[in-house]
Amino acid sequence: MPTSRVLFVCLGNICRSPTAEGVMQHLVEQAGADVRVDSAGTGGWHAGERADPRMREHAAKRGYDLTSRARAFDRSVDFEAFDLIVAMDDSNLANLRRQDRAGRYAHKLVKMTDYCSRHPHSEVPDPYYGGDQGFELVIDIIEDAAGGLLAELQR
Ligand code: 4NP
Repeated sequence: MPTSRVLFVCLGNICRSPTAEGVMQHLVEQAGADVRVDSAGTGGWHAGERADPRMREHAAKRGYDLTSRARAFDRSVDFEAFDLIVAMDDSNLANLRRQDRAGRYAHKLVKMTDYCSRHPHSEVPDPYYGGDQGFELVIDIIEDAAGGLLAELQR
């Protein structure tokens, strides 16, 4: 199996997509799978920052160390550099589709919740302006989806 390169994308790259990256990295290491992960935001306001402290704290309680630094999605590089580009919500997905003007990369664009088997959600909801429950829900959905995604890549 060739290396799979997966990019997780949200809005700010400080809450949802770094969590998806960290959870997926954890599963990949456990499985010894040949998958490389990264994350980015459709916006670049938080570029260079670590994940939101609230997100890191909730993730740490489940054993995930979120170490990545935020960066903006770069259409001139990222569409080619990754095999799969996984959006956290419908708005992120629409943004990526707009940037893929000719539709050349449409086959790479998916949504995280496509891979859920236990959670009924159709998006990973933005937790930024909410409370603890929102951060816990993000991890619940992402754990479900990351398991499904890894199974799909290993098929
Ligand atoms: P994320 O969450 O897209 O999951 O990283 C957000 C982070 C920052 C902002 C919004 C959402 N913000 O408005 O700065």
